[in-house]
Amino acid sequence: MPGERAILASFISEEKIEEIKERSNFLQIASEYVTLRKIGRNYQGLCLFHSEKTPSFTINEEKGIFHCFGCGAGGNVFTFLMRAANLSFPEAARQLAKKAGVELPREERTKAERQNQQERERLFQVNQLASEHFQRLLLNSREGERALKYLQSRGLSKELIVQYRLGYAPEAWNKLLSWLTEKKVPLSRAERVGLITPSLKKKGDYYDHFRGRIIFPIFDLQGRILGFGGRILGQGQPKYLNSPESSIYQKSKSLYGLYQARESIQREDGVLLVEGYFDLLTLHQHNFLNSVATLGTALTREHLDILKRYTKHIILLFDADEGGKKAAQRSLEFFLEKELSAKVVVLAPGYDPDNYLREFGAERFREKMKEAPFLIDFFIEETAKGFDSSISGKAAAVVEGLAPMVARIKNLIERDLYIKKVAEMFGIKEESIRGSLKQPRKRSVEQVGTERVADSAPRGAEETLLQLMLEFPSLAARIREEKIVELFSDPVFRKIGIKLLEEQEKVGKMEASQIIDLLEDEQSQRTLSQLSLREPNFSRKNFQKIFQDCILKTKLNDLELKKRRLLAEIKEAEEKKDNPRRNNLSLKWQEVISLQKKLRRENVSG
Ligand code: UTP
Ligand code: MN
Repeated sequence: MPGERAILASFISEEKIEEIKERSNFLQIASEYVTLRKIGRNYQGLCLFHSEKTPSFTINEEKGIFHCFGCGAGGNVFTFLMRAANLSFPEAARQLAKKAGVELPREERTKAERQNQQERERLFQVNQLASEHFQRLLLNSREGERALKYLQSRGLSKELIVQYRLGYAPEAWNKLLSWLTEKKVPLSRAERVGLITPSLKKKGDYYDHFRGRIIFPIFDLQGRILGFGGRILGQGQPKYLNSPESSIYQKSKSLYGLYQARESIQREDGVLLVEGYFDLLTLHQHNFLNSVATLGTALTREHLDILKRYTKHIILLFDADEGGKKAAQRSLEFFLEKELSAKVVVLAPGYDPDNYLREFGAERFREKMKEAPFLIDFFIEETAKGFDSSISGKAAAVVEGLAPMVARIKNLIERDLYIKKVAEMFGIKEESIRGSLKQPRKRSVEQVGTERVADSAPRGAEETLLQLMLEFPSLAARIREEKIVELFSDPVFRKIGIKLLEEQEKVGKMEASQIIDLLEDEQSQRTLSQLSLREPNFSRKNFQKIFQDCILKTKLNDLELKKRRLLAEIKEAEEKKDNPRRNNLSLKWQEVISLQKKLRRENVSG
């Protein structure tokens, strides 16, 4: 969570964070979550971030790094605790500081940040007060009786109603308003979370936002109330009225039921994702505790990032209508991007998980889940249906619909199998599909060079150079001098390399566990933890020679990329009949070739 880290950095200094890290006993902290066994220089155990039978979760105490060679999770003691206990960075920092006996000076927070924090807490308080009010009205008032009966008629037990703190807002304009006034809540604050709305008729006057509705509070992971959903009791429009987004509530980042479901999601290593409040509650009522619901918005990447912390297996339950199908298909792109496994259940028209479960029962429902096809297979079938069976229809389906998706599959074996499948389905040669994968999107000339090189050899060299720097910091001087990191073809390695060098310049040392906090994205963090714990392919005896080789490989690879880029530009110039430019480019091309030759010569003789 880079944002939080930035906020934190402004009130807990980097030195403090380093102190916490140095004084924290990583092994002891990890042992609260994983049983660890010493193997060689490392400790190993069963990973808590994915389910596995043989231990691939690894901690190196000395380096202060963990990495799971199974699922790729990795980081330092902060990252570990954040994920293991689901804490934000500041929360993890506080907890670790307390354990390690490091004092955190509160004064270091700026006034603005304190105010911001206070404001958030106050908004949560208003929601909490309102929720108590709604809950009391549902459970203990004459007006609420009808609502309570309604909920029970839809199969929800009293316990569940209490557990999810459902409530009722009676058909009145100022019930909540008077309660909040009585509780001396500043009304502007209640307005900011959308519980009351300013009156247009009379300035300074307000009325209740929720009227005549069943209320569903939406919790964050700490059980605080972010906002509410409100379903009309009986018929009427709109069926659902929700809290507007506020500084504490963002629908694209919130999931209904997650607070109650997360342990079960982790335990079952899977999650059912539905669209409605009632679907979610009925699922929980039928003991499908590993379910969550989106909040009347499309599924977003952020939602998946949240779920990914608990499981990689997601089952989508979408309504059978066109909208539901489209939504499922649209989300495929995100799933492929995040390397999450997605299955999809499309219920028969007229059904949603709620009425399906109540009509057919949990067993039939469980069967449905078992039979669920993978989203990508579903997508392929649907795409095939959506185009006509003429030759040009088929070609369009493959080129426009399928190829761009298949190209997004990161696992190469899987991608291969899907190419086969599509080829068979459409009666097309695999090669033609492969051909159309190569230009999924039009790339401009500039982008060609920043692309990852398919060949893994240069990446191997880049990785080894990073490992070498971490192990033998004195080697960094030459890397810096010859600007080797800038030549890296892999953007992640490049980013890590730049950070390593910056850190050495700033504080005189490079430690993976420190650098991890400076890397803002998860992928870089994982890559760094992995390469710092992976057995290097060099030893004390031969590292100089390997260093030399890797530098050479990196340089040659860079020149190779330059050539490719130039070639593309030359082609472009030729197409445009821009001769002066073409000649100019050809000269550059010659230069690159002679550089390559020179490098090779020097290294054979040297
Ligand atoms: P549905 O119309 O499928 O409602 O909307 P539902 O959850 O099945 O409710 P019942 O069974 O009719 O009582 C699915 C979800 O879409 C959002 C809500 O989150 C709802 O749960 N929605 C729907 C809105 O936000 N506003 C609306 O007007 C309708
Ligand atoms: Mn429904």
